[in-house]
Amino acid sequence: MKNTIEYLLKLRQEAKLGGGLKRIEEQHKKGKLTARERIDILLDEGSFQEIDMFVRHRTYDFGMDKTRPLGDGVVTGYGTIDGRLVFVFSQDFTVFGGSLSEAHAEKICKIMDLAMKVGAPVIGLNDSGGARIQEGVASLGGYAEIFLRNTLASGVIPQISAIMGPCAGGAVYSPAITDFIFMVKNTSYMFVTGPNVVKTVTHEDVTFEELGGATVHATKSGVAHFICDDDVECLMHIRKLLSYLPSNNMEDPPRIETGDDPNREEPKLDSIIPDNPNKPYDMKEIILSVVDNGEFLEVHEYFAQNIICGFARFDGYPVGIVANQPSVLAGVLDIDASVKAARFVRFCDAFNIPIVTFVDVPGFMPGTDQEWRGIIKHGAKLLYAYCEATVPKITIITRKAYGGAYDVMGSKHIRSDINYAWPTAEIAVMGPKGAVEIIFKKEIEKSENPEELEEKLIQEYRDKFAHPYIAAERGYIDDVIEPRKTRQMIIKALRMLENKVDTNPKKKHGNIPL
Ligand code: COA
Repeated sequence: MKNTIEYLLKLRQEAKLGGGLKRIEEQHKKGKLTARERIDILLDEGSFQEIDMFVRHRTYDFGMDKTRPLGDGVVTGYGTIDGRLVFVFSQDFTVFGGSLSEAHAEKICKIMDLAMKVGAPVIGLNDSGGARIQEGVASLGGYAEIFLRNTLASGVIPQISAIMGPCAGGAVYSPAITDFIFMVKNTSYMFVTGPNVVKTVTHEDVTFEELGGATVHATKSGVAHFICDDDVECLMHIRKLLSYLPSNNMEDPPRIETGDDPNREEPKLDSIIPDNPNKPYDMKEIILSVVDNGEFLEVHEYFAQNIICGFARFDGYPVGIVANQPSVLAGVLDIDASVKAARFVRFCDAFNIPIVTFVDVPGFMPGTDQEWRGIIKHGAKLLYAYCEATVPKITIITRKAYGGAYDVMGSKHIRSDINYAWPTAEIAVMGPKGAVEIIFKKEIEKSENPEELEEKLIQEYRDKFAHPYIAAERGYIDDVIEPRKTRQMIIKALRMLENKVDTNPKKKHGNIPL
């Protein structure tokens, strides 16, 4: 008996060393933690329960039979974050470069299947050279098994990917299907084909970092939702994100006691909107002053900054916030902003997280670049996402709500529950100047003093339309509120909507314009 237990402990010890001390040292030298160190930081202390530690690959080609390390390059199992169950896989770059074999994929699929059965999030810590080259199609099949599960789990359990090393080729598509991608600066990269292939095919000279580093994906492509300075920051950030999310689509997000007074007023908001309607202000200032304790977890912070998305709490209840940002491109809706916000709205809706929208939008971005790249279909994604969402929806118009963008940004007409406007709101088909130039074109052209006439007409239009009361008269706006009271008004509405039930017609799935 003693010997059998000693043997077990010896095997466990061997498994824990992964690819061995030398490779662990190399991993550390690159500024990266090992697969197991990462799990230890991510999960509550001592909560990790490993599964499949003794799995080995089954390949005999290319001399692989001589090296069959325990665990086969991925550590899998479950544990807790803030006491709540999560499943995790963590690829071990010290074993065959974390490459994905058939057995490695089976381990990941096993925990994904369990997570689906019990309704708990899956967190994937990716650090891998991709498909295990020696295994050929068996490895590709393994990826496909994971992609299928990612897709079936989408909207059922939160799926979070951290890229903490290489993630190339087919490997990118599992994270891409998951809900949120974290990347670590300088040590992680994602691309479909690496710099060598790029050079051969397109003759471009590009480094790993320039092609698919964290900064590129956080600013240019929008593939990464969060970027972090190092592994530890990344893992702590994942814990924070999870604090806003329910464990599955049948649960409500967890409420916590934040200690912030629900009736708190913010007098400075009464004067935050500049007198000149063309002057920008920072929408984040409004968000930070109304949410609990000024805590806001921004998603896609560096991508399409003309729209802001992120999680916060009101009286302890998690919400998703979507807001136009007048200080970037005047808060216009372009392709990137529409796609960014559409995906966020759909995530919130899938996971029962109420959506609070702050509107100051001059319209959709004009121009050939946007039209040729399909602003029509991309803008439609955001409209579709808002229309489809059945979670509580609360909208606050702070200033401009013009044209089609008024409809899109959580308007009453597309099933928003409570719509408030600040007295500074301007709700109209378009801005005063554009409107006057169209409807009084002939009069202005004929006039002896066109500039003076245009000024006069603009002022008339402004007096007539650039305020919230026409919309309020029709009930499109439920109330015009004092900006300082915004927080308490949102909290009251959220409480009222706590038991909201709304549904969509029964269908296989809709056909969102992709
Ligand atoms: N299959 C099998 N083994 C792999 C592998 C893969 N896809 N990727 C890496 N490895 C192994 C390497 O052979 C090496 O083994 P060794 O330590 O026994 O020599 C180990 O993992 C570390 O790889 P190495 O190339 O030394 O690390 P690196 O940090 O210099 O480079 C990569 C990392 C990912 C850039 C490089 O390994 C690579 O290009 N891998 C192939 C990527 C790819 O095209 N994958 C298929 C597409 S899905």
